[in-house]
Amino acid sequence: MKISPSRIAAFEILYKIETEKSFSSVLLPLAEEKLEPKDRALCHELTLGTLRKQIYLDRRIAKLTNGKKLDVAVKIILRIALYQLEFLDKIPPHAAINDAVNLTQMAKKTSAKGFVNAVLRRSTREKIELDFTGAVEKISVETSHPNWLIEKWIGEFGQAETAKLAAANNETPKLAYRLTAKTTAAVKLALQKEGVENERKYLRELAANGKIYFQDEGSQLVGNAVELKENKKFLDVCAAPGSKTTQIANSEFPRSNLIVAGDLYWNRVKILQKNCHKQGAESVHILQYDAENSLPFADQSFDVVLIDAPCSGTGTIRHNPEIRYFLEEKDFTELASKQLKILKNASKLINHGGRLIYSTCSLEKEENEDVCQKFLTENSGFYLVEPNLPEKFLTAQGYARTFPQRDKIDGFFIAVFEKN
Ligand SMILES: C[S@@+](CC[C@H](N)C(=O)[O-])C[C@H]1O[C@@H](n2cnc3c(N)ncnc32)[C@H](O)[C@@H]1O
Repeated sequence: MKISPSRIAAFEILYKIETEKSFSSVLLPLAEEKLEPKDRALCHELTLGTLRKQIYLDRRIAKLTNGKKLDVAVKIILRIALYQLEFLDKIPPHAAINDAVNLTQMAKKTSAKGFVNAVLRRSTREKIELDFTGAVEKISVETSHPNWLIEKWIGEFGQAETAKLAAANNETPKLAYRLTAKTTAAVKLALQKEGVENERKYLRELAANGKIYFQDEGSQLVGNAVELKENKKFLDVCAAPGSKTTQIANSEFPRSNLIVAGDLYWNRVKILQKNCHKQGAESVHILQYDAENSLPFADQSFDVVLIDAPCSGTGTIRHNPEIRYFLEEKDFTELASKQLKILKNASKLINHGGRLIYSTCSLEKEENEDVCQKFLTENSGFYLVEPNLPEKFLTAQGYARTFPQRDKIDGFFIAVFEKN
């Protein structure tokens, strides 16, 4: 029984995501380390492709099996195989089906082998149309987003924009990176060469050595909005894994500033330390604390504070396709209350004339404008200023927002407050 290692790895990753709420961005790199280069691309495609089409594939499977209740492993094996049969023209159907049957055996579901084989063969013979109760369900199934999330977005952005957003969430994001303190002149020159953007292997090697850092352009805008000037005391409140800390620490005036960064979880603090070291941001002071309760600093001890708050992440579904299946409606209110607490605590640390930057990678009003509005109502010492970012990102209310469907980058929200 020979099964392609890429299909075994994709099955194991998808099984963990389904049963343990794990993240593909964590599991894929770990699996890819163990795979031969020739198997990596297919594992990547099968994992992310299947996740991006999950609701659609489940609908097809329900039609093909007449709604039969399926064992989790069998359901995942069918999803992976059906994804190949419907969306990957370079894979011969027999290869997808044979490996699915063998995976069923490997997963110790021997009695389901005939069933898996029959369902997949039926899918290649019969054209099965899906039916929808209305426009919302059509968008939900065709773009594989939960119905409630589509309904929520339609309420906020309208139907046409929601359809575009949900479709954009299934696109493969472009590989974006920035320079670090370790980027040498020779590397800078090499990166200017045409076509280098497509040389993923070269870019990965540079990133592994800290000479560049992969960071979506939406996330980089947050670092840009911080605009740390000379001789400032800066705190990055929710800093791990350190994308923005290292971006800011490496920017124009690294030597004259005091840069402090921290996070709630020890394992994430360690990742933050590792990333700072890797990118040559050695001067950053790193701490562990719970910013929701209290921060270990005297009042008014910083000039600039960034709160890149824990959030639902709905702006990063392109990079983390499984997020949409983990979220529940109640999460937004719970997150908003946590975000407001952190914002209020951190605001006490700002000097007069200092700045507070609040950002999320969420598209939801509850976690963004609503949190900022509540903060401003309860904290009269602060006022909103427009982020110093390209005009196309600025909103009528004075915030900055990015959208995957409009800007082709992750969805971020940025607010800048100044203290009287
Ligand atoms: C959006 S992530 C930050 C990303 C980071 N700024 C970057 O650019 O790499 C939010 C972070 O907040 C941390 N966090 C959550 N609750 C926290 C709390 N109560 N105190 C401090 N950090 C917290 C999480 O562990 C997570 O690392």
